[in-house]
Amino acid sequence: MNATDLPMTEQDPNDSPGLPMLGIRNYWYPALAAWRLGRKPKGVRILGEDIVLFRDGDKIHALADRCAHRGAKLSMGKCLYPGSGSITCPYHGWTYKGDTGKVIAKLVEGPDAPIPAKARVKTYPVQVFRGAIWVFVGDMDAVALQEDLPECMIDASQWHMIWNWRTYQCNWRLLSDNLAHDQHAPFLHRTAPEMRLKPIFPHATRNFAEPLDNGKGIGHRAHDGINAADYPGLGRFPPKQEWYRLLPASGRGREIDPVKSPAVVKYGIRYRHMSLLPATHLIGRPSGDFFTVRWILPVDENTTILYNFNCFRRRSAFKTLTDRLGWFFWKSWAHDWLFSDQDKWIVERVTPGPELLSRTDIGVAAWRRFCQAHARKPVVSAAASTPAGAPTGAIERAVSARVASDETARARSTAVA
Ligand code: FES
Ligand SMILES: [Fe+2]
Repeated sequence: MNATDLPMTEQDPNDSPGLPMLGIRNYWYPALAAWRLGRKPKGVRILGEDIVLFRDGDKIHALADRCAHRGAKLSMGKCLYPGSGSITCPYHGWTYKGDTGKVIAKLVEGPDAPIPAKARVKTYPVQVFRGAIWVFVGDMDAVALQEDLPECMIDASQWHMIWNWRTYQCNWRLLSDNLAHDQHAPFLHRTAPEMRLKPIFPHATRNFAEPLDNGKGIGHRAHDGINAADYPGLGRFPPKQEWYRLLPASGRGREIDPVKSPAVVKYGIRYRHMSLLPATHLIGRPSGDFFTVRWILPVDENTTILYNFNCFRRRSAFKTLTDRLGWFFWKSWAHDWLFSDQDKWIVERVTPGPELLSRTDIGVAAWRRFCQAHARKPVVSAAASTPAGAPTGAIERAVSARVASDETARARSTAVA
């Protein structure tokens, strides 16, 4: 998709069927930093579902956080029997096995108390990886976690990582739009401390959004662009009050050169800005040595957590040290806090409703459409979807459990539009 393809139309993203209010199901999401889960169970909310996490030694379990008896919160309970992989409800002592979700004892009814088959709660696939607890939320068997992670998060021998998180009081879609290359940075972030004395980012670029070869998302590109211009009747932008932009441009925000950039030549990375399902936006550098992976966790309708996984390519022990020192003493506050809080300030106050998309929104429009077309869906068995008496062969159309090869082929053959 490019700038000329996008008509100026009114759209209401809240009507988009592929962008559900509570987030895209059937993906892994980061639930909690593993160090935050100690001996006490912890409640989290993901895609509107209340989940209790608890650990038994090295093993972590995730169950629906509502006791099947009379609805008390299991996260207020305790793990009374270490080694048994169980958690006990704080109200009447029903005790649940973490791996099956079944009640194995009703502690105040005696060891012989009958336990009906219904006495169980939902279990969630859960895994610890790179210091985070990941939970698969959806309506199908979990895929391998690695399938949902970008390459720079998978291989710890090639990439080291520092990460943090921030809670936003807004729906996840507003934050996802903000990160889908919507070209707000030249304007909104021009007043961030790290940008204040420099020329503003190139803008009025020609923007493109294209499907990735692996079918998991789209890549964004922005070519050409200007740093300043005259607007008839108004004057120059940036305005003359911003005379203090005297330092040279630092190169931040620079686009990958498709022929010369090390990202392309050394590593075969084609895009420095990518948006992946379920709502994971990568922003990198033309060097190919850094990506910030911004993973959006929809909590409920009005709460969202943004995980920032800063991924640095391992080059040498010395470089690893300077990467980490640079993050602690500069980037953590200059970017992950002050710069990013400008986004938070805006998106927490956006009023959802009809929109008038424009040239800045090429990436946003492409991303919304990609989600609608390619988000993973559970397999619908032929038996479940066959109306009584209908010939089964007519509906042998089980929806693919993954962004399967035919979807991938479709993504390749049609420009995101
Ligand atoms: S509500 Fe949990 S044991 Fe009664
Ligand atoms: Fe931003």
